[in-house]
Amino acid sequence: MKLIIIANRLPVKIERKNDSFAVKRSEGGLATGLGSLKTEAEMHWVGWPGIYTDNEKEKQEITGKLNELNYHPVFLSAEQIENYYEGYSNSTIWPLCHYFFSFVQYKTEYWEAYRQVNTLFCEEALPFIEDDDIIWVQDYQLMLLPKKIRDKKPNVNIGYFHHIPFPSYELFRVLPEREEVLEGLLGADLIGFHTHDYMRHFISAIYRVLDLNCNLDEISLKDRIVHVDAFPMGINYEQYHKAPTLAGVKKRSDRLKEELGNQTTILSVDRLDYSKGILHRLNAFANFLENHPEYRKKVSLAMIVVPSRDAVDRYADLKTQIDQTIGKINGQYSTPGWTPVYYFYQSFPFEELIALYDIADVALVTPLRDGMNLVAKEYLATKRDKPGVLILSEMAGAAIELPDSIIINPNDTQEIENAILEALTMPEKEKRARLDKMQKRISTQTVKKWAGDFVKDLRHISEQNKEIIQKTLGKRQLTQLKKEYQQASKRLILLDYDGTLSPFVKNPEDALPTEELLKLLTKMTSDKKNKVVINSGRNRQVLDKWFKGLNLDFAAEHGAYFKENGKWHKNIQQKIEWDDEILNIIEHTIEKTPRSHMEVKDSSLVWHYRKVDVWLAELRQKQLINALIGPASRLNLQIVPGNKIVEIKSPDFNKGSEVRRLLQKDNYDFVLAIGDDTTDEDMFHALPPDGVSIKVGNFSPVAKYRIPLQSSVMPFFENLIK
Ligand code: UDP
Ligand code: G6P
Repeated sequence: MKLIIIANRLPVKIERKNDSFAVKRSEGGLATGLGSLKTEAEMHWVGWPGIYTDNEKEKQEITGKLNELNYHPVFLSAEQIENYYEGYSNSTIWPLCHYFFSFVQYKTEYWEAYRQVNTLFCEEALPFIEDDDIIWVQDYQLMLLPKKIRDKKPNVNIGYFHHIPFPSYELFRVLPEREEVLEGLLGADLIGFHTHDYMRHFISAIYRVLDLNCNLDEISLKDRIVHVDAFPMGINYEQYHKAPTLAGVKKRSDRLKEELGNQTTILSVDRLDYSKGILHRLNAFANFLENHPEYRKKVSLAMIVVPSRDAVDRYADLKTQIDQTIGKINGQYSTPGWTPVYYFYQSFPFEELIALYDIADVALVTPLRDGMNLVAKEYLATKRDKPGVLILSEMAGAAIELPDSIIINPNDTQEIENAILEALTMPEKEKRARLDKMQKRISTQTVKKWAGDFVKDLRHISEQNKEIIQKTLGKRQLTQLKKEYQQASKRLILLDYDGTLSPFVKNPEDALPTEELLKLLTKMTSDKKNKVVINSGRNRQVLDKWFKGLNLDFAAEHGAYFKENGKWHKNIQQKIEWDDEILNIIEHTIEKTPRSHMEVKDSSLVWHYRKVDVWLAELRQKQLINALIGPASRLNLQIVPGNKIVEIKSPDFNKGSEVRRLLQKDNYDFVLAIGDDTTDEDMFHALPPDGVSIKVGNFSPVAKYRIPLQSSVMPFFENLIK
């Protein structure tokens, strides 16, 4: 088994050096975080080496260098870099996911290149993917890749991690290619985000855009279930915590301390990016100097801006604005011997970066949006004898895990100014206490644990998906079932109606049986060896009306009534007199939930919400159940949530009790039950060990087989009884 990480970038980048090439560490959270990961499985990386060349000899040389490290380069043409990387990835998806709506650019050539490069990554990776490998696709540049790999290798384990925010549905819906993007992601078995909020937004986009069935963190597809979860990414804590003691780092920090003298240093480290809030931060610092002259000559801001995506206009513009703003601040406040803002537009190697973290008294991390932000965690991890203070934006994923930092809203420059003052005046004891708490968290939630948790869950889910595939009724299983059916001399066939024999339509009154279905049932019942029972939640009147003239038996209202040899019998003692309190609760729910309604049956009350917006329905369903718990337990009633319904009924009977009654009365050598809803699981439970239970739609661990689509149910029976 291999762990194959596929990311836009390799954790190293290739740079030209004289006539040859040098391998250098890549910046950015994803590369630095995952790059330091050690695993037991053989690890491979597939990704762009960060350099453009169309010279075959050079490509070979680079490939040779990288292959030694188990890295596999994907070379991109100049046009692909422009349209896929700078274009769709960083001028469409990036601003959209970071809520910079007005920065989003739509261009057909961007989208086409994005598709093309995702296919290219797939082609490059396929030759060394084996069935038991774990494929882990990283980030927004490769959202179509999970499906592309799944199409070629249906049985492989595929995970996807989204390292940036996933925006609210209202924003995501504007993307013209929203469907294809989401379908691309659903090729994975497990989709991970840094926070629960991103996860929630993603699920909401799934059911609104694709209208798929979601059950909390599970999305049901025809042949698999995709799981979604939050896994906050960590850092290699030990590496950062020990780093200040390295001789090379110590030398650098001592030199820095000497150069800075008694000055207090506030540090900020980001890639050049409008999402990082660099200008807001500079303005807040300028205001701080203006309003707190006593700190002039005493405090400096060391601002590291790592060059990034500078071929994208928005980034180039931002660079100019930053240069100007810093020039203005330094021009206004500098004195001989004191510079307010030390500005470094460059990337620092690890040891130098650690030295800066080490000497900094305060870290100012104020992104307007950030998937996680690893700089915040790295700064905290580096602190040893002298604690530092972290000022952190609430818009960074990291804020959820680091509540002991000074949390600010990055749009509020006044708040940042206050936070700087608070940090500079914070008692040492408080600094230590806050740091200890945060170090405790980040030293356990490391990058290793993050990857370990993800891969463990992915393997478990993939196994489950394999089981789902095995249970899916295919040709082989059908042949076996046909044989058993033909050999049997007395058969019991139990059929659920809605969602099984009839498609799940928005209006329950429209679910009338088709001619085709009536014909099938006539044929089934005309075989003297068959006892065919429709085991439904519907009431007697509807069943009698819809199946008039057929030689069928029924169980109505979840087994409250049954019809045998043309006569109805009842299992309930008497019609339930509904309590006002319960009726009021349901009526109140209906008033607040347009397009929902109540059905009153002799033995149960049902709140139907098929036509209601998914989000509202979910909310009201929970509220209704909560409100009903008290009165239902007082009156000894059962609350059963089903497919777009909540049913309140007597606990004395269900679809299973009717099956048990039938099995006690007669001996059958073939028993089959089919259904799509949770209430049908009671039927499955009641079957004899060799009974055939078939779940339509979602996966059920109780059922022996699964038919993914309702539309396949009729063809299945036609084939079975042929
Ligand atoms: N980084 C670096 N050299 C630098 C500045 C930053 O290697 O000069 C690294 C830093 O250590 C961190 C990453 O770049 O691991 C930035 O990750 P973060 O999650 O903070 O932001 P991203 O760049 O992913 O948006
Ligand atoms: C963020 C993204 C990564 C990306 C990194 C650096 O962390 O989530 O996918 O690699 O920024 O950006 P770059 O465009 O230089 O790869």
